[in-house]
Amino acid sequence: MTLICAVIAADTQGAAKVAAAQALMCGAEAFEVRIDALLAVPEDLSFLPIAKPVIVTFRSEMDGERREIFAAALDAGATYVDIESSSVLRDRFPRDRVICSYHDFGRTPAMQEILSIFQDLSASGIPKAAFMVRGPADLWEIWKSALVLKQSGEPFILIGMGVAGEITRIRATDIGSMVTYCTMRPEDASALGQITVVEAVRLGLDPLATAIIGWPLEHTRSPQIHNAAFLAAGIRGRYVRIPVPEHELPLVPAVFRCYRIAGANVTIPHKQAIIPHLSKLSPKAHAAGTVNTICVGTDGTLTGTNTDLVGIAAALAALGNDPAGKRALIVGAGGAARAAAACLISAGAKLFVTNRTTEKAAVLAAEFGAVAVPLDALRPEYDLVINATPAGMSGFSAEIPVPVSILSPDTAVFDMVYEPETTPLLSASRSAGVRVAVGGKSMLIEQAAASFALWARKDADRTAMTKAFGGQP
Ligand code: ATR
Repeated sequence: MTLICAVIAADTQGAAKVAAAQALMCGAEAFEVRIDALLAVPEDLSFLPIAKPVIVTFRSEMDGERREIFAAALDAGATYVDIESSSVLRDRFPRDRVICSYHDFGRTPAMQEILSIFQDLSASGIPKAAFMVRGPADLWEIWKSALVLKQSGEPFILIGMGVAGEITRIRATDIGSMVTYCTMRPEDASALGQITVVEAVRLGLDPLATAIIGWPLEHTRSPQIHNAAFLAAGIRGRYVRIPVPEHELPLVPAVFRCYRIAGANVTIPHKQAIIPHLSKLSPKAHAAGTVNTICVGTDGTLTGTNTDLVGIAAALAALGNDPAGKRALIVGAGGAARAAAACLISAGAKLFVTNRTTEKAAVLAAEFGAVAVPLDALRPEYDLVINATPAGMSGFSAEIPVPVSILSPDTAVFDMVYEPETTPLLSASRSAGVRVAVGGKSMLIEQAAASFALWARKDADRTAMTKAFGGQP
């Protein structure tokens, strides 16, 4: 069984003792004590928290000093010493007291290479390898390697690092890893994809796992709002980021099945591109030709659906007038634009579409019975302007995707971008004195709540989600 191992990286022995006591109270089942985090190398190791299995780690160039510390640690009751595979010390201690470790902070190699690394490591102790995970292909190699390693029946530690590696920590029990390393402080957790001890204990051995796929994913707020909803609903669930480059989309179904991901959101730029990789579509997703939500059935089938439609309907309601008979301009021709088109057509709007790539606007317009308008032919003649591009979003270009000259005091503006809350388009709209201008927050919360309800089979707490977003409930 996988042990929840609290990493104790304190700068004094006293602080290490306090951190270990706190970790124990939170439910930690093992400790890794980082001697290298201490400001001074300890004279004796009686402070080690030997109430549970203890791994002593000491990364340093000073081999003589390290050798003494490792020997003293084992004498003081440490269960294991962690020694890197590159160290001359790796064969100097009994094999059953050594964790022989290997880290690659840049990549995850293919399965054959992973297995040969493990073979080498196991000559000196319990093999431990941690690889930087960049996307589904790396997750797949880790999964296949775990299947082989498990067959040996010998203990091993296998970790995927980074944001995309978080799912390997959530599923450490399935992977068969002897321990999963957790931090005590949330601020230490994110970069390596570690979770806190408190969260690991809360999640238990078999949490509900959900995810977001897209590229890039740095700026999404979906994880924080979904994780808040899990907490509020008392569900042992965790929503993780899996950045997916376009060419790795075909691997998504296999990765979802093996890591038992029950559902996922799909974001830019994959809302249409994911469709050929799904088993089926809901009628609404089929009609809109775009997917923002995937549900994985117990039989492993992936169904694409679209909760952006309810999110957009909520945002349109917030604009305060019925789109029926109104001239509505959609900016963009990707998946989000399609969802907006489906919504507006069913609400009876007269639809216009513009996009930086004119041909894509023409295709979308033809499909929905709308009129495509080149960007340079736009005039101030729209009652409603909807931005369905990422222009203005943090991490993307800070441009306004339409000429500001089309904004007038009669216009209502809806910008689907929610990060930053005041986008360049919204601030230009307010300067132009438009009738009303709303950002993407209400759409984000509503689509998230609808997706959550599909996966968790419980209503989402919108107040908790909104609070986690960072605004007022
Ligand atoms: P999704 O399907 O998730 O909505 P997408 O298919 O990549 O994502 O669509 C994004 C839309 O935003 C596209 O219409 C894109 O324009 P192109 O068709 O020319 O690619 C548009 N878009 C992306 N970045 C943009 C930017 N900086 N300025 C204006 N439009 C942009």
